[in-house]
Amino acid sequence: KGVTVVSHPLVQHKLTLMRDKSRSTKGFRQLLNEIGMLLAYEVTRDLPTELVEIETPLTTTMAPMIAGKKLVLAPILRAGVGFLDGMLSLVPSARVAHIGLYRDPDTLTAVEYYFKAPSDIADRLVIVVDPMLATANSAVAAIDRLKERGAKDIRFVCLLAAPEGIARLTAAHPEVRVWTAAIDDHLNDHGYIVPGLGDAGDRMYG
Ligand code: PRP
Repeated sequence: KGVTVVSHPLVQHKLTLMRDKSRSTKGFRQLLNEIGMLLAYEVTRDLPTELVEIETPLTTTMAPMIAGKKLVLAPILRAGVGFLDGMLSLVPSARVAHIGLYRDPDTLTAVEYYFKAPSDIADRLVIVVDPMLATANSAVAAIDRLKERGAKDIRFVCLLAAPEGIARLTAAHPEVRVWTAAIDDHLNDHGYIVPGLGDAGDRMYG
């Protein structure tokens, strides 16, 4: 239904390399970047196109281009930024909304510390990006905030999701479609995805 698991072998292979606890910071970052590109390809698969007139060296013809306004990528800091880089290399003219949230380690609620979005997000497709969907507190808070600013067309892309997070996100925002590379087994008592890959922000930035 609203959740797509991207089962492409390249995505699955790279995700497995990222789960390995001995993967270096450099390797982890590079893999997240590569998977970001591959997931950007999937999440934009059904964007509408329109025919525009173009002059080739030989003639004038009609050829397809993506219709509408440029899309907005909305990374949830910090780990979302590692995902953003790969996506931007595929969609270089996208606008970017930065959403700073951290999870309170005791309550696991999302606390906002930064929010800066382009002023016209109401007219654009907004793709929220965060490698991890655990309790979904962060994703739900980010999407609440974007809706407050008028965003109507929103998608969510992550690398790894917990079943609990998928259930919470789809209950809170049923119209927001989700793309993920994998749905893992469960959340542990500290809100970590198991088997997972640890804390993506820490593995990338320390
Ligand atoms: C992690 C992760 C997500 C969030 C997921 O961020 O990057 O943003 O937790 O958990 P949730 O679904 O339960 O909200 P964290 O708060 O550790 O911040 P960081 O990215 O800055 O390390």
